[in-house]
Amino acid sequence: MQLHDAKLAEISRRTFLKTVGWIWAIPVWMMLRQIAQFIGQSLPVPSPMVFALGMPQSLPSLPAHIERARIFLQKDDEGYYALDNVCTHLGCLIHPQPDGTFACPCHGSRYTADGQVIRGPAVRPLPYLELHWDNVGQLAVDRSKKVAATFRLPATNA
Ligand code: FES
Repeated sequence: MQLHDAKLAEISRRTFLKTVGWIWAIPVWMMLRQIAQFIGQSLPVPSPMVFALGMPQSLPSLPAHIERARIFLQKDDEGYYALDNVCTHLGCLIHPQPDGTFACPCHGSRYTADGQVIRGPAVRPLPYLELHWDNVGQLAVDRSKKVAATFRLPATNA
């Protein structure tokens, strides 16, 4: 009887150690799962770079802050131009001010109406973005193409 009890105790201890031996896998599995979720959420989501802004007759009165394209659309005697509204410091969206300047709410950078830095920490001016007339006659901005500050798109594409 004692031999049987000893064998049973040995089996139970062995089974217990086998079971406990795999418990370490649970927190490791949970940690790997969280890392995978973090990486999945952190991967950049492809975003459109070209935005149709509308037909000439349907454009808002200018200058206009067009949030979905993240630009300030403006026009002068030579044509349309678009200033990026992403702060060149760390990428916050800047806001137009009543005096015509732009202010970044994150760290206080200020820009002139033509995108020059008035106050840091930003050191680079706001880029100008390429505008074109698309194949159906809409004004469009391509956020992937920076252009010179002198760039102007004539008001009509004819
Ligand atoms: S992101 Fe605009 S000032 Fe820092």
